[in-house]
Amino acid sequence: MNILVTGGAGYIGSHTCVALLEAGHTVIVADNLCNSSAETLERVKQITGREITFYQIDVTDAAATNTIFANHSIDGVIHFAGLKAVGESVEKPLVYYYNNIVSTMVLAQACLKYGVPRFVFSSSATVYGENQVPFVEDMPLLPSTNPYGESKAMSERILTDIAKANPDWSVALLRYFNPVGAHESGLIGEAPAGIPNNLMPYITQVAKGKLDKLRVFGNDYPTVDGTGVRDYIHVLDLAEGHVTALAKLTAGVHIYNLGTGHGVSVLQLVQAFKEANGLDLPYEIAARRPGDIAECYADASKAERDWGWTAKRNLVAMCRDAWRFEKSVSRGRFL
Ligand code: NAD
Ligand code: UD1
Repeated sequence: MNILVTGGAGYIGSHTCVALLEAGHTVIVADNLCNSSAETLERVKQITGREITFYQIDVTDAAATNTIFANHSIDGVIHFAGLKAVGESVEKPLVYYYNNIVSTMVLAQACLKYGVPRFVFSSSATVYGENQVPFVEDMPLLPSTNPYGESKAMSERILTDIAKANPDWSVALLRYFNPVGAHESGLIGEAPAGIPNNLMPYITQVAKGKLDKLRVFGNDYPTVDGTGVRDYIHVLDLAEGHVTALAKLTAGVHIYNLGTGHGVSVLQLVQAFKEANGLDLPYEIAARRPGDIAECYADASKAERDWGWTAKRNLVAMCRDAWRFEKSVSRGRFL
């Protein structure tokens, strides 16, 4: 199939491009490079030995986006393009709502105009809010504490309503848990700008000596050891979930968790990282981070039942691959 991947130069998008190309699909990327680099796409080509057509455009720009649909016979869209920094979304809500929601509407409109039957949307486990774990797809969603989370919940609702009115259209709302790790080549991975917000990139930068120690945000949660529990999933497993979604998608709206179904605490992840890589990792216990929940992990059984998809790579692989990539990042950001 010819697949349009928005945000394809980003962290999850670039790994999904690898998985799509390896599965034999043709990939067209639309990305404005606001949080990524074109070099990443060169590396995707290097890994796969395949070509990618790249448009450096903003997908909130309807005219530029429609040009892509006019130029290519697209069979499906995977919409990764979005802004994702939770704290920043509280400071700049309009920027987040505009970018994340308008891009979704522009793409949906183009799909209907050009008769593109498949739409796969990057949603997040954050839409579950403080529901009881494990999170199941049919739970009522709870309000998010930030505009980023709300932009995902609203995009889900918009796509659901459009699909109801257009019964031939197929939409997958994929709720990601916590993607970590990198391609085993060490060529692409997650290299956030500035001080990382998320745990795994923070850990790898401490291991590298760029940061002096990890601060563990709270050890008084009602969890196995008091620290926050999350469902870490290898980014390549997540990427392969998208290839499966495209293959299995039928008409209507389908919601799937993409996680492992296993919760891992901060201290368990620190221990796994140390053991997987034979490194020490200094840390201290700090105050809870505002807005954090105690536990977030998936009931991952629906994707297995319906699609035969499960995450295959374990915590050791996630830690080794994240560290291999961190060691290889020598010149700056975004690879
Ligand atoms: P990322 O920032 O690495 O990738 C997003 C890409 O989209 C970047 O390359 C950026 O340049 C591009 N982009 C942003 N706005 C754009 C626009 N208007 N037009 C064109 N390109 C634009 O982020 P990621 O971690 O790869 O996340 C991909 C998607 O998955 C996002 O929608 C994110 O909200 C969602 N998600 C991510 C996580 C996570 O932990 N990384 C978890 C749940 C959901
Ligand atoms: C964050 C986002 C969430 C998004 C998710 C996946 C926030 C508040 N939430 O959630 O919206 O869907 O990423 O991208 O940013 N931790 C530390 N020290 C650190 C960093 C993190 O102890 O330096 C802890 C956190 O308290 C948490 C766990 O590690 O318990 C994971 O944190 P993180 O990687 O930021 O992901 P989420 O909190 O799940």
